[in-house]
Amino acid sequence: MRGRLRLVLAVALTLALVGPVGWLWWSSLLPSSYSATEMGEPDWGGGPHGRAHAAGHGTGHVAGHGAGHGAAATSLLDLDPTPGGRADVRVDLVARQGRVRLASGEEADGYTLNGRSPGPLVEATVGQLVEVRVRNADVAGGIALHWHGVDVPNAQDGVAGVTQDAVMPGRSHTYRWVAPDAGTYWYHSHQLSHAQVTGGLLGPLVVHPRERGGARDVLALAHLYAGTPTVNGVAGTDRVEARPGERVRVRVVNTDNGPSAVWASAAYRLVAVDGVDVHEPGLVEDRAVGLPAGGRADLELQVPTDGTALRVSLIGGVGIELGPPGARAPDPPQPEARVDLLSYGAPTDPGPAAGRPDRRFEYSIGRRPGFLDGRPGLWWSVNGELVPDLPMFMVTEGDVVRLTVENHSGQVHPMHLHGHHAVVLSRDGVRATGSPWWFDSLDVADGERFEVGFVADNPGLWMDHCHNLQHAREGLVTHLMYDGVSTPFRLGEDSGNVPE
Ligand code: C2O
Ligand code: CU
Repeated sequence: MRGRLRLVLAVALTLALVGPVGWLWWSSLLPSSYSATEMGEPDWGGGPHGRAHAAGHGTGHVAGHGAGHGAAATSLLDLDPTPGGRADVRVDLVARQGRVRLASGEEADGYTLNGRSPGPLVEATVGQLVEVRVRNADVAGGIALHWHGVDVPNAQDGVAGVTQDAVMPGRSHTYRWVAPDAGTYWYHSHQLSHAQVTGGLLGPLVVHPRERGGARDVLALAHLYAGTPTVNGVAGTDRVEARPGERVRVRVVNTDNGPSAVWASAAYRLVAVDGVDVHEPGLVEDRAVGLPAGGRADLELQVPTDGTALRVSLIGGVGIELGPPGARAPDPPQPEARVDLLSYGAPTDPGPAAGRPDRRFEYSIGRRPGFLDGRPGLWWSVNGELVPDLPMFMVTEGDVVRLTVENHSGQVHPMHLHGHHAVVLSRDGVRATGSPWWFDSLDVADGERFEVGFVADNPGLWMDHCHNLQHAREGLVTHLMYDGVSTPFRLGEDSGNVPE
């Protein structure tokens, strides 16, 4: 009897200790199949609640909050206004898994598009209908293509499990969208992106304005292949022939998980950031431009007239040398000072995005111990919560949204909202005074706080995540959801869709 009592007490004590942890573990488990519309806790940002009712679901488990199931919900597939008919630009891509042979000869394990990485340049003029057909030859995990920074209709956004199913080996998928804005962009897989983007399943994308400027376009896409820094697939220096005195626009794209920076051997103007033109960009000397993961910067400069070359350098010892054959450029070290986009360029009205908000959201990034789908660890938190209890930012079309992004997690996070460009209003309480700082990728350093504004003008269900894709995989993913939108696609183990 004594022995039995002791056993009962021991079991009770164990349960008392293990119970809460077990409950935390259990409540972190994700269902084997669920809709992205059911993720997180609806946050209406102080604005009117819509159809998706805000009933909390207590257990912390993914649960429906209406929109995904309500008969009145509109599938995001039905929100696509892209016309039928013949496309102006047609591109065929074939994705493969295996060895990547860099332009400079090195090899790495990864992924190719049409036999190479980076994949081919997709190029269009604003207003043109672009059609990209991608076939997955043999990428076992499936693929999807996302047009990073292009505010395409939601159905074309290329996020596996949210806007489409992953394209499995032997299958194809066709994307069609009208190029909305001129600028420098890139495309990359949004299925198992932590592995596929790192492995090179990506390429550059340029949308030209209807009237092209006088400068010649030069690409500088940076990527790290298995630890080797490259630019345009070249480890080291990519040489581009250019005439003395020629004006060039170097379109720099950072496709890595970490921040980069670009500077030059001559004075330059930073003419665009994340595809958006800077208003009255001043001449920059002895300063570098920081590039968040996923971010772009267009530098305009002139090839020297004295027969030497021009160098545009990036972190990692890579760069582009532009000049006549045989000409060499000086290779200045990275300047310590940075161009501060908060005050660079001349101010002009950013429009309604900076106006009185209809909704205000807080996106506060931290880090704390807990379980992520049953795995114990130190995970990224948003507003103190871990997946699956992150906020679901709810909007209605036309809302002016004010978002405060704050980071106290100990690391920098390159935050990327799909389908929209936002404008920086302040950083650490200091108001923006330069050209409107429009972005789709924003580095939020530890201890920083940004206030940004945007207009909810592109209905759908949009990822808003960290573009350090390892962090995304570790739970730093939320969504912006327009009230009344549903998706026919599923996430979870049974679906085969793994956007991160
Ligand atoms: Cu560059 Cu969610 O994407
Ligand atoms: Cu991050």
